[in-house]
Amino acid sequence: MIGGGGTGIGRAIVRAYAAAGAAVVVADVDAARATEAAAELRTAGHTAHAMSGDVRSREQLDDMIAGAAERLGGLDILVTVVGGQVAFVPAVKLHEMNDEDWETVYDLNLRYVARAVRRVLRLFLEQETGGNIVSIGSVTGFMAAPKQAGYGAAKAGLYSLARTVAAEYAADGIRMNIVAGGAISTAVNNANPAGDRVPEIPAGRYGTSEEMAAAAVYLASDEARYVTGQQIVLDGGVSVRGPFPE
Ligand SMILES: NC(=O)c1ccc[n+]([C@@H]2O[C@H](COP(=O)([O-])OP(=O)(O)OC[C@H]3O[C@@H](n4cnc5c(N)ncnc54)[C@H](O)[C@@H]3O)[C@@H](O)[C@H]2O)c1
Repeated sequence: MIGGGGTGIGRAIVRAYAAAGAAVVVADVDAARATEAAAELRTAGHTAHAMSGDVRSREQLDDMIAGAAERLGGLDILVTVVGGQVAFVPAVKLHEMNDEDWETVYDLNLRYVARAVRRVLRLFLEQETGGNIVSIGSVTGFMAAPKQAGYGAAKAGLYSLARTVAAEYAADGIRMNIVAGGAISTAVNNANPAGDRVPEIPAGRYGTSEEMAAAAVYLASDEARYVTGQQIVLDGGVSVRGPFPE
């Protein structure tokens, strides 16, 4: 089940999971996007369902997870994709940020993930099948995030959640890992008024949604069966580059 799968990185993830043989439920607040994404996958011969709901609503989140498990006859993988800051609230320095905007960013990046993780953990334990959780994080979770403090703090929380899931549930065959992106070429980034960040990226280009999706598939695959509580960083070298001249 992929939440936020209607467009951007989530859309690439549903395609990649389907191509890898998974039956998927595409969940998105935008019903038309989810329907279109699932229809595209079915046309290509895959098993795919669409669901709509707002991850900020406890009831709707619960319904999406229960509904996905019902449609697929159980759940093996949860991927949480919904997140961001600039698409939802103004980018301002920390002292200028109000409580409401902080709450919004927290809701959309961490609170719903923690709820969804708790819900699927219960399901995985009931099923006695093990399970996988992959959450989309960001380099802002471990690098300074000017004018995106709430976003960075929430993304840092995802990695903490993954480490705890690893410690508490590895023995049950349940894993959780994070795919942390740098600057990825998506609608929100391409429209970013802060402009082109390519000069700061050692790889000389933005990452792609397909590259994020490939990491998300690997982490949920059997090849990654000994990998849990980890964060894979896809940032073209941004986070490891020192301030040294060439
Ligand atoms: N774009 C980047 O450069 C970048 C970099 C690093 C990490 N990320 C992370 O990747 C993830 C996806 O980013 P994106 O750029 O693909 O986003 P996007 O805005 O292109 O797509 C997000 C999807 O989530 C859906 N959505 C939004 N609010 C929702 C809600 N309340 N309930 C359910 N669905 C909702 C949207 O309809 C949309 O289909 C986010 O977690 C973001 O933080 C993005």
